[in-house]
Amino acid sequence: MKEKIDKLAINGGNPVRETYLSYGKQSIDQDDIDAVVNVLKGDYLTTGPYVAEFENKVANYVGAKYAVAVSSGTAALHMACFAAGISEGDEVIVSALTFAASSNAVLYCGGKPVFADIDFKTYNIDVSKIESLITNKTKAIIPVDFSGQSVDMDKIKEIAEKHDLIIIEDAAHALGSEYNGRKVGSQADMVEFSFHPVKPITTAEGGVVTTNSEELYKKMLIFRTHGITRDQEILNENHGPWYYEQQLLGYNYRLTDVQSALGTSQMKKIDTFIARRREIVKKYNVAFKNAKEIVIPFEEDFSNSGWHIYVIRIKAELLNATRKEVFESLQSENIGVNVHYLPVYLHPYYKNIGYQKGLCPVAEKVYEDIITLPLFPSMSNEDVVDVIMAVEKVISYYRK
Ligand SMILES: Cc1ncc(COP(=O)(O)O)c(C=O)c1O
Repeated sequence: MKEKIDKLAINGGNPVRETYLSYGKQSIDQDDIDAVVNVLKGDYLTTGPYVAEFENKVANYVGAKYAVAVSSGTAALHMACFAAGISEGDEVIVSALTFAASSNAVLYCGGKPVFADIDFKTYNIDVSKIESLITNKTKAIIPVDFSGQSVDMDKIKEIAEKHDLIIIEDAAHALGSEYNGRKVGSQADMVEFSFHPVKPITTAEGGVVTTNSEELYKKMLIFRTHGITRDQEILNENHGPWYYEQQLLGYNYRLTDVQSALGTSQMKKIDTFIARRREIVKKYNVAFKNAKEIVIPFEEDFSNSGWHIYVIRIKAELLNATRKEVFESLQSENIGVNVHYLPVYLHPYYKNIGYQKGLCPVAEKVYEDIITLPLFPSMSNEDVVDVIMAVEKVISYYRK
C-alpha cells in the first residue's frame, strides 16, 4: 500500500501544490476599492457619514436595533464589558478555547475571567458547566460562537436570567451565521463581531457591537470616543456651541470613514461570501466523512453556521504520526494550516497570573488534536481539491 503513495513533500517529494494556499484571506473587488477611493477623495477620512451608514447596514442585517462600530473586535469586546459595568472584583465566565480577546477584555475592566470548559463536539462553551461556575461575584457570560457555529443561546439566556447575568456574545466568527433560523446578532444583550481580514467581511481592522438596548448603546457611544459627549441632554454644563465634556474615562476606539466605506461595500456581498464558505465546507465534509482518522466539524440542528474556519480533529492514535507531524506535512504540501486555539489560560501571561494546566480538560484535549484547513470565499474549486488531496495524501501515508 505505502509504495503507491507519493512521497511526502516533507520527505523530499513533490508537494500537492506549487504555491502556498493561506488558511484565510479577504475578498476585495473593484467595488470595494472604488468605495475606499471615493472616501479618500472626500471631506472626511474619519467620523463622517460612512460610519453610521455601515452601522445601520450591520444592525439591519443581523436584526438588531443598534450597532456601534469600533477599531477592532477586541475594542468592541472591551466596550461591551465597560457597558456591562464590569469592574474590579467582578467575575465573568468565558470560553476556554478561543482567541485571548474575550478574556482580555474582562481584564481590561479589572474583572476576573472564569474559564468554562468546552463541549467535545462543537468546541463551544459547555452550557452544562456554566452554573457551577457562578458565584455572587459573577456579572456576565461571554460565550464564543466558535468557527461560526452559534452557541445554544436559549439555554444560556435561561441561565443568565435566573442569575441576573449579562450576556456578551463573542460572535467574531459568526456574522451571517444563524441560530434557530435567526441571524446571530440580536439575541444576547450585546453581540460583538470582528472585521479582521480573515473574518466573514473585513474593514482591515474593525469591529462592532450590536444591541437592542438603548441604555447600553448610549454607554458604548461615549466609551468609544474618550468618554466625551456633545449630547445636550446629558451635558453637566453648556458653555456654548463649541462645548463638549468628558464624563468618563473612555478610549479612542473609533472606526474611520475609509474603513466604514469598505465595510458597507463588503456587506453587499456577505451572503455570497457565506454561501461559498458553506459550499466549500460541504465538499470537505463529503471528502473526509469516511476517513476514520479525521473528525469533521459537528453542527447542531439549531445552527446554520457561516463557517469562519474549518477545524478537523486528528486521531493520532490511528496514525504513525503526531498532530504536529501531520501539521508540518500539510504545510510542506503548501497547504496553509493553522491551529485555533491554545486554551487561553495556557498562555504564559495567564499562567503568570495564576491559571493552571488541567483547568479545562476537554479544551486541552481538543487543542492537542485540532488542525484548521484553508477556508475563504475566493478559494477556487481547484484549491479545494488540492486541500483534499493533500489531507488524503498525508493521512494515507501515516495510516497505521
Ligand atoms: C473569537 C474571537 N474574538 C475576538 C477576536 C478579536 O477580534 P479583532 O482581531 O478584530 O480584535 C477574534 C479575532 O481573531 C476572535 O477570533
